[in-house]
Amino acid sequence: MAGARRVALLCFLVSCIASAARTTDARGPDRKDLGVSIGNGGGGVSIGIGGSGWPKPMPPPPKPKPWEPRRCDFENERLYRAYLVIQKFKKTVICDPQNIAGSWSGTDICGTSSYKGFYCDRPYKVTDRTVASVDFNGYGLQADSVQGFVDGLPDLALFHANSNNFGGAVPNLKSLQYFYELDLSNNKLAPAAFPLEVLAITNATFIDIRFNSFYGELPAGLFSSFPVIEAIFVNNNQFSGPLPDNLGDSPVNYLSLANNKFTGPIPASIARAGDTLLEVLFLNNRLSGCIPYELGLLGKATVIDAGTNMLTGTIPASYACLRSVEQLNLADNLLYGVVPDALCQLASSGGRLVNLTLSGNYFTWLGACCWDLINEGKLNVDRNCIPWAPNQRSHEECARFFFRKIESHATCPISVHAPCESSGWGYDADEQADAAAEENKYRTYSALQP
Ligand SMILES: *[C@@H]1O[C@H](CO)[C@@H](O)[C@H](O)[C@H]1NC(C)=O
Ligand SMILES: *[C@@H]1O[C@H](CO)[C@@H](O)[C@H](O)[C@H]1NC(C)=O
Repeated sequence: MAGARRVALLCFLVSCIASAARTTDARGPDRKDLGVSIGNGGGGVSIGIGGSGWPKPMPPPPKPKPWEPRRCDFENERLYRAYLVIQKFKKTVICDPQNIAGSWSGTDICGTSSYKGFYCDRPYKVTDRTVASVDFNGYGLQADSVQGFVDGLPDLALFHANSNNFGGAVPNLKSLQYFYELDLSNNKLAPAAFPLEVLAITNATFIDIRFNSFYGELPAGLFSSFPVIEAIFVNNNQFSGPLPDNLGDSPVNYLSLANNKFTGPIPASIARAGDTLLEVLFLNNRLSGCIPYELGLLGKATVIDAGTNMLTGTIPASYACLRSVEQLNLADNLLYGVVPDALCQLASSGGRLVNLTLSGNYFTWLGACCWDLINEGKLNVDRNCIPWAPNQRSHEECARFFFRKIESHATCPISVHAPCESSGWGYDADEQADAAAEENKYRTYSALQP
């Protein structure tokens, strides 16, 4: 009886070891890793049943010490140091569905088939090749943290890690003198306030932390610390509070603040971004106050999306100056009044407008040119209060809105002056055809997918 139990125990242990070996194997270690894990397991068995009177299994044969590359096996000191950092990080990778880390062994860090995700280059005024960029996009790697890894590679310029399962905090990249592109989007970073470490990346051109769990207010430094920034994507987090007043001071070209919980007005400083801002998403927050006149000064912008907020007022006359705008979304706000004829004209001679979405507001009248746009499928005014337009709100709903508005004494300034020459000098037809191309050419809209 006791003997049978012992056999059962032994079977259990052996099958555990086998399954441990299988698991390690599936994770794709190189041969030496596998050897180590079996070796440890074997040691456990001989201790566990040693005192039971059963014959001791043979001790595992002494294993040759796995070959460890030395400094002299590498092209230069920088690559050797990178090797040590990578090997340390490799041990922390918990999950690796595509067996990426399996290729991180040996001395050929810069090789085309080894060290997947690592790319070498020579930094400015440096003759040695070194690890200059890490691109783990879509690898699905899981590790508790990338701290000590990213910041352990001193020559790194780019770190792209979209759609992995990295936890922990954003590493401090202050000491990386060449660094300029950070993409930690769609990971499992620990919920935290905006990582102020990021503000130390003075030469940053690309900051992407969308699809994580950051919360709290954005620091004003986000819009003042980066003189050469091109893209800031913080959409799909839990950010809240007002947008910093200095938002318009940033020279950023692509800005996505969508799908957070920002409150308060769109900062008037946005007027200062007129020469640089190309796409901006305020979409789906809790922004309130009067829709700013200054938004109409974004003469270079192709995408302006402030849909699904609580912005109110009438569309300022300045919006007729948005001659580059292709996508203008103000849907699902509390806007009212007339949809200006000059705005609708941007879809014909004066501009590049192909999609004007104003549904879910309380507009009561359309400029003459706007009716044609509805027929052409370029203007959506569903769920407003416009007589004779299709799919409008009920009279009761409209009356309730206007009654409440009068009651609250809340008024927004009505601007009738457009700070640009009247339209008429438009683009040619070819350019308009280009403008009508697919929506996914827009970088900010693409950023709304994980
Ligand atoms: C930023 O880039 C400039 C010019 O490329 C360089 O001289 C400077 O050291 C960089 N600054 C930092 C903090 O990396
Ligand atoms: C127009 O813009 C709205 C709001 O952004 C979007 O939902 C819709 O798909 C766009 N339509 C086209 C044809 O691009």
